[in-house]
Amino acid sequence: MSELYFSEIKEIKAVLSKIKHTQLFVLVDNETEKHCYSLLKPYLGTHVLISVPNGETNKTLATCTLIWEILTKHEADRNALLINLGGGVITDMGGFCAGTYKRGINFINIPTTLLSQVDASVGGKTGVDFEGYKNHIGLFYEPLCVMIDTVFHHTLPDNQLLSGFAEMLKHGLIADMDHWKALKEAGYSNINVELIKHSVTIKEKVVKADPTEKGLRKILNFGHTIGHAIESYCLTNQQELLHGEAVAWGMVAEAYLSNKKGMLGKSDQEEIEEYIRAAYKIPEIEKTSYPKILRLCKQDKKNQSGEVFMSLLEKPGKATFNISVDEVLILKALDHTLKLKF
Ligand SMILES: NC(=O)c1ccc[n+]([C@@H]2O[C@H](COP(=O)([O-])OP(=O)(O)OC[C@H]3O[C@@H](n4cnc5c(N)ncnc54)[C@H](O)[C@@H]3O)[C@@H](O)[C@H]2O)c1
Ligand SMILES: [Zn+2]
Repeated sequence: MSELYFSEIKEIKAVLSKIKHTQLFVLVDNETEKHCYSLLKPYLGTHVLISVPNGETNKTLATCTLIWEILTKHEADRNALLINLGGGVITDMGGFCAGTYKRGINFINIPTTLLSQVDASVGGKTGVDFEGYKNHIGLFYEPLCVMIDTVFHHTLPDNQLLSGFAEMLKHGLIADMDHWKALKEAGYSNINVELIKHSVTIKEKVVKADPTEKGLRKILNFGHTIGHAIESYCLTNQQELLHGEAVAWGMVAEAYLSNKKGMLGKSDQEEIEEYIRAAYKIPEIEKTSYPKILRLCKQDKKNQSGEVFMSLLEKPGKATFNISVDEVLILKALDHTLKLKF
């Protein structure tokens, strides 16, 4: 497991002095080059900046080739060190490039979105998309350390903060109701390092117990079976909805299912739902599209032979996995979650 420094980025100087390296490379995208690089640069010595175009569409092998080419052009050896400065796209892709260049060089993650701070930069999953499949090519490869500083939040738009906040709410719901309460009290715009640290600790504990997702790690998918389906649907229907925002609505639907499956109590389900409805904008999806979303749910990686399996809430603060949910119930959950708009 990597070491975590929940600190101000100026401490990177001390961190770097402890890591033996021959050359330093910093990977950014055009947005983090504009908003984040100047905050880090004063604390770095000589380094090479690698800037790639931003966004999920550039999380590809073609962009990796650009990164590997620059490392090669500068004759980076096996003791070169890479800093990934960016959101989940940069930490996933930079981690993958580091893991494969000369069979692996060291890297540090400095995540700059709330989502990447609480989720993408921890857990060791790295990779890129391939021929339309998300994270299709990749490997488990750990950063030497992850540095988390909320200074980067100042330039993040509200929807990006809300997207990361949803993953934090999920951490509370699956493992720690005090965390859920603290998050509700703070609100998405007042997230501090302590709250981020707690979310990361929850994720790390689960990942440590099951690094390759054979069992327990699946609980991190609460809200994601229906959330991913809503996300994919909105993507193909030109409706802007970020991953975490879709997961928030997925959690409303899956909390409903947890109750229907005789696990989560009604008042707990209602508390979750009320909070998410007040904090998140509901996507505009008509009833006629529910079968399409159901089909997308069935494509989920966790399913076996046409049956849909989900990670649901046993009770507040405790999740369970591999729960089979039938189609009729999924359609009911979609209706319950999305209908109020119409
Ligand atoms: N490895 C994992 O376990 C894991 C977990 C969750 C998500 N992910 C991956 O993470 C990616 C999503 O991450 P994301 O939401 O951070 O997306 P992202 O990296 O695309 O960042 C979102 C946008 O914000 C910009 N940005 C980043 N930091 C900024 C800042 N401080 N100020 C202003 N703009 C800034 C980026 O340039 C980008 O345009 C997906 O590819 C997903 O697959 C991986
Ligand atoms: Zn997620």
